[in-house]
Amino acid sequence: MTGELEGKVAIVTGGASGIGAGIVKLFVKEGAKVVIADVDQPLGESLAAELGASTAFLKTDVADATQVRALVDHAVSKFGGLHVMVNNAGISGARHPGLLAEDFGDFQRVMGINLLGVMLGTRDAARHMSANGGGSIINVSSIGGITPGTGLWAYNASKAAVIHFSKSAALEVGPHGIRVNVIAPGNIETPIMARAFADNLSPEDQAKMIEKIRAFLIARSPMQVQGVPEDTAQAALFFASDRSRFVTANLMPVDGGMVAGSPPSVNGFRDTVSRPAS
Ligand SMILES: NC(=O)c1ccc[n+]([C@@H]2O[C@H](COP(=O)([O-])OP(=O)(O)OC[C@H]3O[C@@H](n4cnc5c(N)ncnc54)[C@H](O)[C@@H]3O)[C@@H](O)[C@H]2O)c1
Repeated sequence: MTGELEGKVAIVTGGASGIGAGIVKLFVKEGAKVVIADVDQPLGESLAAELGASTAFLKTDVADATQVRALVDHAVSKFGGLHVMVNNAGISGARHPGLLAEDFGDFQRVMGINLLGVMLGTRDAARHMSANGGGSIINVSSIGGITPGTGLWAYNASKAAVIHFSKSAALEVGPHGIRVNVIAPGNIETPIMARAFADNLSPEDQAKMIEKIRAFLIARSPMQVQGVPEDTAQAALFFASDRSRFVTANLMPVDGGMVAGSPPSVNGFRDTVSRPAS
């Protein structure tokens, strides 16, 4: 059976872990050649070794324009082209107690990776794709970029900007046969939460804290289940493949419905607003 991405070459930034690694695995299963781009060299190399000759790892900091340009060149020279660019690398930055106490100490770093990294990856992929028959660019935002929330100030702002930038880019590159779409994950089980909420805790306290947060999020989401990297990978496959050939400037939350709100059992509205049938 032929895979849906047979003959295509993809780059996945932040491809060594979590959501990115899930996308790499599914793309390879569907026949793509994939360059895993990440700052975590041991993890990236071990994933490339596990998946074999359809993958290559290139140590890349997405916030560095020179490295992103070299990444696109590497994919083209190694695998003969670039058809799909997934700008997924991201960090949460530190969680801060309140806006009034905020020093924005991690602003530059968060924006550099989460926003500039996406902008550089989009531009450089589009430069190649526009001269080579088009392609698909998939940018990873967050439901935190859609629904206002406190604590991760720079993160949420960066993720909102990713959505706006991606839709704007789609306007310009559409005539070149390039589609730009956005995935907004919510509560996908990856190491990012440990880094965001509990970096300074013992492993046991960290595990307890994460369990509590996950239970809180699950209870408030319409589907009431935990998301896993495979869920976001399936959305990426849709945007990467020709199934979405008429879809651009699109924003797809992959969040069990969380961005729409909570079920009636949580917010209690059902009892308040229900009326006897007339
Ligand atoms: N997990 C979730 O629930 C969730 C929710 C919303 C958005 N996201 C977004 O999904 C994306 C992937 O996150 P994840 O949950 O898989 O986290 P993760 O921490 O498991 O993976 C992020 C990867 O990005 C890499 N990375 C960090 N800085 C980099 C840089 N400068 N250059 C290249 N690579 C870099 C890390 O080494 C890591 O491999 C992020 O953009 C994140 O904001 C995740």
